[in-house]
Amino acid sequence: MQIISTANELASYLNTVKNNGNIGFVPTMGALHEGHLNLIRTSKQNDDTTICSVFVNKIQFTNEDDFIKYPRNIEQDIKLLEQVGCDCVFIPTQEVVFPIDYKYEIFNLGKIEHILEGLYRPGHFQGVCNVVNRFIELIQPNKLYLGIKDLQQCKVIEKMIHLKKYEPAVELIFCATSRNEKGLALSSRNKRLSNDAKNKALILIEMLKSAKEQILSKSSNLDTIKQFCITTILTNGFESVDYFEFADQHFELVNDSSTNQNPVYILTAATIEGVRLIDNIIIGYETNS
Ligand code: PAJ
Repeated sequence: MQIISTANELASYLNTVKNNGNIGFVPTMGALHEGHLNLIRTSKQNDDTTICSVFVNKIQFTNEDDFIKYPRNIEQDIKLLEQVGCDCVFIPTQEVVFPIDYKYEIFNLGKIEHILEGLYRPGHFQGVCNVVNRFIELIQPNKLYLGIKDLQQCKVIEKMIHLKKYEPAVELIFCATSRNEKGLALSSRNKRLSNDAKNKALILIEMLKSAKEQILSKSSNLDTIKQFCITTILTNGFESVDYFEFADQHFELVNDSSTNQNPVYILTAATIEGVRLIDNIIIGYETNS
């Protein structure tokens, strides 16, 4: 596996591989787990060359403490990437990604930027779009792999790709959420949880499944389901619930007074042991449940 950290090295590597066929790109912030590795495996199946980036992107963190505490383990990451046969890992410094004179873009993302994660992490999605846009410019991949675990991020990046008119040259591939044997969505932040909290955190997927069942069986209205799920999450060890919400196919929030009451996505964010976890479920999409 090629280990690259400068833009020049990257450019010459790309010169050697671009005639071999498709390039698949998996952006990450490291502290890799099976969820990330499954994205790499999917690219390996689809593409001739798989490139993974490891870069903890400061501008997408709204909380300095979260950035500092973000787990970093580059040696282990390199080992794991080698094991799954990743062709190249790009580990740039801040200056390589965003040189001093870099002109950050402001993407017109619309409402999606300010709801759910956007409401709790102002500026987060502009930070995500800037870094992914920058990587697309540097790597010019044919396919970009993202995990549905960060569903709103998938939708936001889809919008950015559309705004930048990257399609059809860059194809987006969304991959299902990888979970542990009990159902907890894998996340780099799980490393900061005690075993007790990891068990308690299962209530998130349980409530998402329960809400999905109640919606499908039409047994309760949305506001009642939401209240029940939030209360149950709080009584099972979580300190706070930022949101437990429903969104339609256009990613607009849905409640009992909305004109359109056809939720397609259920999304939640909640904090346990000071660690903020997010998860979601898609109604009528079995592989994510
Ligand atoms: P990071 O959290 O490292 O995630 C990198 C990619 O792995 C994202 O597409 C994310 O959705 C996916 N992923 C994480 N956990 C997953 C799981 N349990 N199952 C499936 N996929 C999972 O997301 C980011 O980094 C950053 O915002 C980034 C896109 C790299 C921009 O900095």
